[in-house]
Amino acid sequence: MRLDGKTVVVGVSGGIACYKACDVVRLLAAAGARVRVVMTAAAQRFVAPLTFQTLAGQPVATDTFDLTQESEIGHIRLADEADAIAIAPATANLIAKLATGIADDLLTTVLLAARAPLVLAPAMNVHMWEHPTVQENLARLVARGASIVGPESGWLACGYEGTGRLADPEDVVEEILRVLAPKDLAAQRVLVSAGPTQEPIDPVRYLSNRSSGKMGYAIARVARRRGAEVTLVSGPTALRPPPGVRTVSVTTAEEMARAVHAAFASASVVIMGAAVADYRPRRALDRKLKRTGRPLTLELEANADILRRLSTRKGRRLLVGFAAETNDLVSEARRKLADKRLDLIVGNDVTVPGAAFGGDTNVVHLIDADHHEEALPVLSKEEVAERILDWVAAHLPAAQRRSPLRRVR
Ligand code: PMT
Repeated sequence: MRLDGKTVVVGVSGGIACYKACDVVRLLAAAGARVRVVMTAAAQRFVAPLTFQTLAGQPVATDTFDLTQESEIGHIRLADEADAIAIAPATANLIAKLATGIADDLLTTVLLAARAPLVLAPAMNVHMWEHPTVQENLARLVARGASIVGPESGWLACGYEGTGRLADPEDVVEEILRVLAPKDLAAQRVLVSAGPTQEPIDPVRYLSNRSSGKMGYAIARVARRRGAEVTLVSGPTALRPPPGVRTVSVTTAEEMARAVHAAFASASVVIMGAAVADYRPRRALDRKLKRTGRPLTLELEANADILRRLSTRKGRRLLVGFAAETNDLVSEARRKLADKRLDLIVGNDVTVPGAAFGGDTNVVHLIDADHHEEALPVLSKEEVAERILDWVAAHLPAAQRRSPLRRVR
């Protein structure tokens, strides 16, 4: 999701995690947002305003009583302009002031005057984090509509190990994107599969494919942003589970089938982005296969077609499949759409530059059961996810059945 035209105010309060807030600002600016940074006096002891100013490409506000800043930036204007406000790091002190309405510096004054959605990314010592006062203050802020991201557990700069580390900057930005996204998938339960499966040959070898999981993870992330409750069934990948998404990790096609079938009952939308192995070795050896120097034949047997089985229990659910092809993309995708009785198929020719495995972009051809089709240009996997979910949102049972695709036959 791009943030062009959106203003995000990033408040930085004083803690060692200030250095990570630089990354939050960098990521927001890269997404097209106009980023206005407001720093407390303590924050300026950790990172110089110039760092944030350079990353944001905008002046940094630090002082309510600075005449130049007040006339050029203005604390009420900052509050009014914000489409979203994120505080990273949010210290125990700042959280307490916010909960009780204290406005004794620029940042707390802006926060008191603001109406925009608020994201807090707390960071502090583990004992401070666990203190009942901090938890009560946070509960008050949550009750008033603030979203909290993190903190994470791990090694803390104060030398302790425990909960209190600032959330990953990508997760902070993800939460900002979530509060800004339209909620056209609210109340939907979206089941997404992603990644490859691995079919064991022996304890050290397996059959698999080149799927990285990026396409399916992007769908899960975007669906959650748009208000859905998301379950992601993922084969082995190197990706971090998307925040706020229930992620079920599996290895083989059989495990994926079990996990998908288990989550299917409560799903209203199913999107099978996984590259499920069609075959597995008939027998997985329990000892490492020795090299003999002679040719070796592996006997394979077919895995069940998960999607085709789901279609027999479809009910009112929307069923979306993918087709990964190296030739005859459109005819093969149409065949799979009919064969698996899908509502929408996302065909991708994996030989096309910019498409499919591993990369951050994809080139897809959308075909729905009402014969609407659209060939999309090279797009980021997130944009492809947006387009698939646009189709889903337009075809929810309660929605008007007006497809965003063109009718072709
Ligand atoms: O993971 P990335 O690196 O981001 O790459 C993305 C992708 C190329 C993996 C993705 O865009 C994609 O095309 N996924 C589906 C790959 C695939 O298995 O296509 P298929 O044509 O073989 O299968 C058709 C559909 O049936 C797919 O939705 C698949 O999930 C499903 N299927 C396949 C086999 C099987 N045994 N059970 C299934 O449910």
